[in-house]
Amino acid sequence: MTLAIDPARIPDAARVAPVVQRRWLAGGELRTWEGPLEEVRAVVLHPGAGGAPAAPAALGGYPLLGEAEALHALDCACRAWDQGRGPWPSAPVGERLAALTAFADAMGGVRETVVRLIMWEIGKTRGDAEKEFDRTVVYIRDTVAALKDLDRTAARFQAVDGVVAQVRRAPLGVALCMGPFNYPLNETFTTLIPALAMGNPVVFKPAKLGVLLLEPLLELFARCFPPGVVNTIYGDGRVVVSPLIRSGRVDVLAFIGSSKVADLIRAQHPKPHRLRCVLGLEAKNAAIVTRHADLDQAVKECVLGSLSFNGQRCTALKMLWVERSLHAAFAERLAAAVDALRLALPWEAGAQLTPMAEPGKPAAMQALVDDACARGARVLNRRAGAVDATAFFPALVDGAAPGMRLWREEQFGPVVPLAAFDDLEQPLAFVRDSDYGQQASVFSRDPAEVARLVDGLASQVCRININAQCQRGPDVFPFTGRKDSAEGTLSVSDALRVFSIRSMVAARDNPASHAILGDIARERRSAFISTDWLF
Ligand code: G3H
Repeated sequence: MTLAIDPARIPDAARVAPVVQRRWLAGGELRTWEGPLEEVRAVVLHPGAGGAPAAPAALGGYPLLGEAEALHALDCACRAWDQGRGPWPSAPVGERLAALTAFADAMGGVRETVVRLIMWEIGKTRGDAEKEFDRTVVYIRDTVAALKDLDRTAARFQAVDGVVAQVRRAPLGVALCMGPFNYPLNETFTTLIPALAMGNPVVFKPAKLGVLLLEPLLELFARCFPPGVVNTIYGDGRVVVSPLIRSGRVDVLAFIGSSKVADLIRAQHPKPHRLRCVLGLEAKNAAIVTRHADLDQAVKECVLGSLSFNGQRCTALKMLWVERSLHAAFAERLAAAVDALRLALPWEAGAQLTPMAEPGKPAAMQALVDDACARGARVLNRRAGAVDATAFFPALVDGAAPGMRLWREEQFGPVVPLAAFDDLEQPLAFVRDSDYGQQASVFSRDPAEVARLVDGLASQVCRININAQCQRGPDVFPFTGRKDSAEGTLSVSDALRVFSIRSMVAARDNPASHAILGDIARERRSAFISTDWLF
């Protein structure tokens, strides 16, 4: 079986024109790259001619920039920063917010193009691709509202113990934002937008996959922001990222990816203590299903939580613990629910599972299953396994145990390990011993039991979901993790704090100080000392 589709049968509402991207943005100029391109292949397969195996459709390519281009983009950002004196970092908050609002408004014009590219490039269903796009626009508008709030608070002088002071949040400098492939728009923008909002010029590097879908936004960046405020780089991280970090001129690293890569990047900074890091890394979120759980609800949430977007979410449930007395019933229901899922092309109605973007992903998933089975686990569901070069039907692997790769590794795909427990202490010990500490889900209707689990988990993870899957949203809530899962906290308002530093003016609380500060504020002599605020 294969999901390969004859190009002639692709519906008009899903068609995309190939994108051979040669443009990159630096210093406000859309430059043309004449050098080599990284070839981009779709998750969608076309049947091979003459009995050849189906192969991913060609989708286009993007620039494989060199070190010189990356350093040029950094120079442009540094000029826009100009040690904090550039027009963007020193602009009144209202001007920056107007630019962000204009950008959010303009995004509407490219929605359909971006949504289609998300489907083809990373395999998100149309519904999820639309959700990702719309959630991103809402995130920008919420950021604008949150910054107005921050600005209102900062317009106040405080008098404490004989000192009168005004505290504001100032930008940090040049930010390097690197997004992930699974939420190429949303996750990337949850760092890019707050970085810009607080006045930091940005060099932006997309992940290796999910790049072309950002191309339609280049012109909007160039149109809505002053030169050098948004710059884009593409290519091999060792070529285009390392020299930027080694130069010591990047002040903030916002990176969503693996802790191994984050550590490699950070270590290259000549003075790592100067590099503020905002990191979203791996996770191994566990669900703990006790005998007091509502079985229907637990199965439904565990299917959603482990397999939405084929399990390729940092917040996905990646280990299911089930109390032994419920285990057989749970396993049977879960296997039936998973086997009933619809694996289809991203634009097909009712698609719940889709092909995946990372080359060799089905084989990588099969290797995890084989390793577990060789050590005593067994596959629970009938349809489990590779379908073709990009699709893998989810495998439920029962009997997960120490020593199996699935026990410790983040699978980041459609393989779901299960383990039975006799005592709540077992899943709690698993969470404590894990390298990761993002979230957990607890399924039980017994308040005393829920309370015990919450108390056992609260010092290990940063969000405990009761009778619900793990998830990031709503975006006003803090999103972070312990151990190897994250550094820094992102939410609409937390992100504004992460990308800024408090700076204050202070004076003795006496009539002479009042006269000076009052005059400066009244006559609007300073951008910093000001009692104006935005409505
Ligand atoms: O991959 C990590 C994402 O931030 C998960 O977000 O929980 O909304 O899918 P989500």
